[in-house]
Amino acid sequence: MKLRTISELLSQDFVSSEVDIKGWVRTFRANRFIALNDGSTINNIQCVVDFETFDEALLKRITTGAAIHVKGDLVESQGKGQKMEIQVKELKVLGDSDPETYPIQPKKHSFEFLRENAHLRTRTNTFSAVMRLRSALSFAIHKYFNENGFYYVHTPIITGSDAEGAGEMFRVTNLDPKKPPLNEEGHVDYSKDFFGKETNLTVSGQLEAETYAMSLGKVYTFGPTFRAENSNTSRHLAEFWMIEPEVAFMDLAGNMDLAEDFMKYVLKYILKNNREDLEFLDARLKDEDKSKPQNERSEMGLIEKLNFVTDNNFKRVSYTEAIDILRDSTPNKKKKFKYIIKDWGTDLQSEHERFLVEKHFKCPVILFDYPANIKAFYMRLNDDGKTVRAMDILFPGIGEIVGGAQREERLEVLKQKMTAINIPEEELWWYLDLRKFGTALHAGFGLGFERLVMFATGMSNIRDVIPFPRTPQNAEF
Ligand code: 4AD
Ligand code: MG
Repeated sequence: MKLRTISELLSQDFVSSEVDIKGWVRTFRANRFIALNDGSTINNIQCVVDFETFDEALLKRITTGAAIHVKGDLVESQGKGQKMEIQVKELKVLGDSDPETYPIQPKKHSFEFLRENAHLRTRTNTFSAVMRLRSALSFAIHKYFNENGFYYVHTPIITGSDAEGAGEMFRVTNLDPKKPPLNEEGHVDYSKDFFGKETNLTVSGQLEAETYAMSLGKVYTFGPTFRAENSNTSRHLAEFWMIEPEVAFMDLAGNMDLAEDFMKYVLKYILKNNREDLEFLDARLKDEDKSKPQNERSEMGLIEKLNFVTDNNFKRVSYTEAIDILRDSTPNKKKKFKYIIKDWGTDLQSEHERFLVEKHFKCPVILFDYPANIKAFYMRLNDDGKTVRAMDILFPGIGEIVGGAQREERLEVLKQKMTAINIPEEELWWYLDLRKFGTALHAGFGLGFERLVMFATGMSNIRDVIPFPRTPQNAEF
């Protein structure tokens, strides 16, 4: 019987005789033991070569990073640390790897160094585990929505409406930057551009998703979004992936229930299906913690933290309650916050969000009913006239992971809000049409996929959970 991947091979509980495996050499010890990995699992398969029967020149080419093809017998391992090993009968080098210049040596490399070698970093245990988990989470997300009757909508990546205000946008143009056509006022004449108007990369698929919710009922988008903010933090990317469900006839409470159920489902999925990768990352974090002073160590291990989130209710707290808690908090009174909370109405900074989640409630928190003037125009105004049905979900170690709202479904109220912030009606005529023809209450949210992957893997920099991060001054690869 021929097995194709190391994962398939190691999950057998019997020892089959003939195997045929291709992969990359992790280490070659004592001219005898090859640790081979093919990316299918965190585990290597040990391939034992009898050096007397192989050409010395061939064995010299078994170096870290080389691609090889091995045929042999799968036998019970005599050594410790593995159940099975391959007694190599045939060995072929498919691609050499010069040990002098191959960057990924079998030792600890810094994440900074590996970021510079992002094309090779998934040859390490940490990055292969993170990226397998990223893939599994992505699958679980589609699975959840599919099982719950949602349709997957591909909203456009190039957008002609600049109205959402979620962030600075990247312009899409094919005009010649050296001599763009100008109009009478001397400004660039975008009517001569490819689309006949100004276009940008989208910051969110929400507005278009709303149109589909108002016809297909339950929909979601899952695609790349782009923001040109110059925020060089460990939680921001210029290109990131967002999951945005949108549901007709659902209110804010329903939106919270959906978000909580959905996030628990995808985390449970990896706890069940990606155990080995999680155990590896859990051990890695525990190891890293040992070198930290006691007060900086994590209170929970990775798996423990994921279980905690799936087993406990998210705490639901209004913005007003949160402001009261923050105003009375020790760091506020002792002026430890960079931004001191004084009045109702101020926007929360990530230091405040993290205080609420990590110090005060010590569990995921859903903040809701924010002041209207710090949230987007499309959020449903409450009867008090000053708050909107917004919700942000805050996670320990991450801060804001979800932003969402019940949407303003009343045409007149929406128009007033747009006028107040100078969004021309012509620009969003189609969005207003939804409020003219069969309007109904509806709600949705956006989950930042990389922030979810950070939480699920325990990685502390968002650049390390996306294959090729795009950040200010960096678009390598
Ligand atoms: O809170 P945001 O800006 O919400 C929206 O865009 C809404 N249109 C979503 C909706 O209601 N359908 O972004 C949603 C989430 C944030 O909570 C955060 O997790 C993530 O997207 N996010 C980023 N992730 C990485 N890098 C950035 N620059 C991000 N900006 C937002
Ligand atoms: Mg937000």
